[in-house]
Amino acid sequence: MAVFLSRSEEETVAFGREYAKTLKAGDTVCLEGELGAGKTALCRGILQGLGVKDEVTSPTYAYVNEYGNVFHFDCYRISSEAQAYALGLFDYFGRGGICLVEWAENIRGLIPENHKTLRITGRGVREISD
Ligand SMILES: Nc1ncnc2c1ncn2[C@@H]1O[C@H](COP(=O)(O)OP(=O)(O)O)[C@@H](O)[C@H]1O
Ligand SMILES: [Mg+2]
Repeated sequence: MAVFLSRSEEETVAFGREYAKTLKAGDTVCLEGELGAGKTALCRGILQGLGVKDEVTSPTYAYVNEYGNVFHFDCYRISSEAQAYALGLFDYFGRGGICLVEWAENIRGLIPENHKTLRITGRGVREISD
């Protein structure tokens, strides 16, 4: 396990850009951390690192934002796996793209077994660990 210390949102985004270089098609990354930890900031960096030029916003209301073959999920408002299936979220994980998932604990049964995890803890200075 590696730990990266981030002192600002910008440092978290920069870490995400570097981390993106380790990803390959078919990977799923679960972002763990409480509300406001910096999961979306981290996703913004990863998406930039993957070459996405669009502005990255939280998909809290849409559940998933699509950027070509990269999918950014926010499952905060999903309360059951049945709801996730009904929304069609299962399909994304079999498409051979890269899936970035905030609040994956709410759709645990849909997440591929071989997923990666990034955990953000701490207030002020954040610790990002894999
Ligand atoms: N080191 C840091 N890394 C990421 N965000 C930070 C950091 N320090 C402060 N922040 C602030 O915390 C908030 C993180 O928001 P966001 O990325 O939306 O969190 P989450 O998606 O986990 O709810 C932003 O307002 C950001 O400016
Ligand atoms: Mg978020």
